[in-house]
Amino acid sequence: MLVTGAAGFVGAHLVAALERRGHETVAVDCFTSFHPRDLKERRWSTLTGKSSNDVLNIDVCDVEATSNPRLAVPFDAVVHLAAQSGVRYSERHPETCVRSNVLGTYSVLALASRLDVPRVIYASSSSVYGDTSGECREEDLSVAPTSLYGVTKRSGELIARAFWERQGLRSVGVRLFTSYGDWGRPDMAYFRMIVAALTGTEFPLLADLSVRRDFTYIADTINVLVALVEREGDFPDPATLVNVGGGAPCSLQALKDVVQEITGRELRMRQQPPTLGDVTSTCASTQRMTELSLPIPTTSIVEGISQVVEWITPLISDARDWVAQSE
Ligand SMILES: NC(=O)c1ccc[n+]([C@@H]2O[C@H](COP(=O)([O-])OP(=O)(O)OC[C@H]3O[C@@H](n4cnc5c(N)ncnc54)[C@H](O)[C@@H]3O)[C@@H](O)[C@H]2O)c1
Repeated sequence: MLVTGAAGFVGAHLVAALERRGHETVAVDCFTSFHPRDLKERRWSTLTGKSSNDVLNIDVCDVEATSNPRLAVPFDAVVHLAAQSGVRYSERHPETCVRSNVLGTYSVLALASRLDVPRVIYASSSSVYGDTSGECREEDLSVAPTSLYGVTKRSGELIARAFWERQGLRSVGVRLFTSYGDWGRPDMAYFRMIVAALTGTEFPLLADLSVRRDFTYIADTINVLVALVEREGDFPDPATLVNVGGGAPCSLQALKDVVQEITGRELRMRQQPPTLGDVTSTCASTQRMTELSLPIPTTSIVEGISQVVEWITPLISDARDWVAQSE
């Protein structure tokens, strides 16, 4: 298996899970500066038990670099997770976002096509749906992303479909709904809230407390990705899209209450102007996951946040630095 974005939050958890299940993986990541390198290296080595030298330092946007002989392997599957993630960062660094998510996805799909890889699984996002009031359904083709990040993720999906139509490359785009957990991303609200509560610092609130997210615990996200990698036989649609979320959204107010309850500390907040392009609610329809016999995420927010607090508590001074170094 080839996994791109392997030193990232989802990537490192996925490589660890695949290796535990006996799959050999080739890991690629160019260690972008979006999050501190220290976090990525420690995440990688703790979760996978490997050295960071085992990660091929390749920028997937560099088409020439993806011709590296170490990538000329008859992979059973490619899981493409490398991207410039984060709605807020992408609004501030639009070119990085377009380059990483559009050119990077094109380049990985082109590599998979050259190598005749039977299946590519790539990360899309709930951000493709834009502002919706009800459940987000994959069959809705009139999606209208409100952020540049969402636009780049939708572009990746359309490029993947074009690769099926032109080159016969089969793919599954996973629309991830706010994945969170241990070794997570210090730019995300849950991570920052926990650090602020445990260190007695102020949490800069960049949205209304009524904003709702379909938080998905990392173990649930990984279960779906592993099921997709290991699934036998083709999917009915050769360029499938599928939500990865449990369909049980939680408001930021409820998240704040859970963080306070589990840490036993008061969380002080400072209201900031909202992030451009951020949506007010995300809620995954789980119908297609059911149709494809994928495991539906079920971990409750209380259970998931308890796990994160347990992981972060002994690392709190590092975690505080990671937050300070992440935009
Ligand atoms: N975590 C979530 O809630 C969430 C939600 C929706 C979508 N996604 C998507 O899932 C994927 C994984 O997300 P994550 O949370 O692990 O993000 P992450 O930022 O932790 O990981 C992404 C990794 O990709 C690497 N990378 C970026 N550009 C690269 C390039 N050009 N070449 C090689 N490596 C590159 C980065 O160094 C980083 O380690 C991303 O595609 C993201 O957009 C994540």
